[in-house]
Amino acid sequence: MFKSDNKKIWFLGRSYQEYMNMFSLKKDELDHMCILDCAGGASSFTPYLLNNGYDCTAVDMLYGKSVEEIKDQCINDFHTLLEVHSGMDHKVDWDFFSDPEDLVQQRITVYEEFIDSYAQYKGERYIQGVLPNLPLEDNSFNLVLSSHLLFLYEDRLGYGFHQDSLKEMLRVAADEVRIYPVSKLHGDSRSKFLPVLMDELSDDTDFVMERVDYHFRKGSNEMLRIIKK
Ligand SMILES: C[S@@+](CC[C@H](N)C(=O)[O-])C[C@H]1O[C@@H](n2cnc3c(N)ncnc32)[C@H](O)[C@@H]1O
Repeated sequence: MFKSDNKKIWFLGRSYQEYMNMFSLKKDELDHMCILDCAGGASSFTPYLLNNGYDCTAVDMLYGKSVEEIKDQCINDFHTLLEVHSGMDHKVDWDFFSDPEDLVQQRITVYEEFIDSYAQYKGERYIQGVLPNLPLEDNSFNLVLSSHLLFLYEDRLGYGFHQDSLKEMLRVAADEVRIYPVSKLHGDSRSKFLPVLMDELSDDTDFVMERVDYHFRKGSNEMLRIIKK
C-alpha cells in the first residue's frame, strides 16, 4: 500500500535524454568529463553514462537504502506522481512526452534502468550524501548537475539550505554547476532566492541563464550555469 505525501521531496527519476535537454548537453562534450548528479534520485542519466563508458557518479540522501527498499520507494513515489499529475494538464506542455500515457511508460522505463544500475554500483557510483554536506573531495568533478531540487522546492527548503548547498556543489565542482529548473513548483516565476544568491556568489562565479529545449512544466525552460572564475 503506498502512502501519498504531497509535502515531501519525492524520489523521482528523469531520463538521460531529459537531462541532456534540461542541461543543454552534447554527447561529445561528456567524453573527457567527470560528472556528478546531485541529487540523482531514480534518474537514468547516470545509468546510461555508466553503461556507455562515461565517468559519472550520483549522490542522494536515499542512496544508503537497500535495493529492495529503493524499489519500494520508487513504487511509492511513482504513485504519488500519478496522483499529482492527474488534473494538472493545464500546467504542462505535452511536447517531450506526447501524452500522460507516454509519461507513465517513460518513467517506468527510467525506474527499471535506475534500479538495475543501483544494484550494480551502489556505494561505488551511487553515494549516500545529504546536502549541504557531501562526502566528496574539493574540485573532484568537472561538472555538477542538479535537477529538480534547488529553487523548485523553495516552499520547503529555506534560503540557508540553498545558500549552503550551492556553496557545497561549487566546492566539489572544478569548473561548473548547472541547475534546472530555476522556477518554483507552484507558479512559473523564478525562485525568489535566485537574485540574492547570484549577488552573494558573484565574486567567485559567473552566472549564465540559458533557455533550454526541454518543455514539460509550463514556463520552466531556463537553466542556470554557475561557472567558477
Ligand atoms: C525530485 S527528485 C529529482 C531526482 C533527479 N535529479 C531527477 O531530476 O530525476 C529530488 C531528489 O532529491 C533528493 N534529496 C532531497 N533532499 C536532499 C538532500 N538534502 N540531500 C541529498 N538529496 C536530497 C531526494 O531523495 C530525491 O531523490
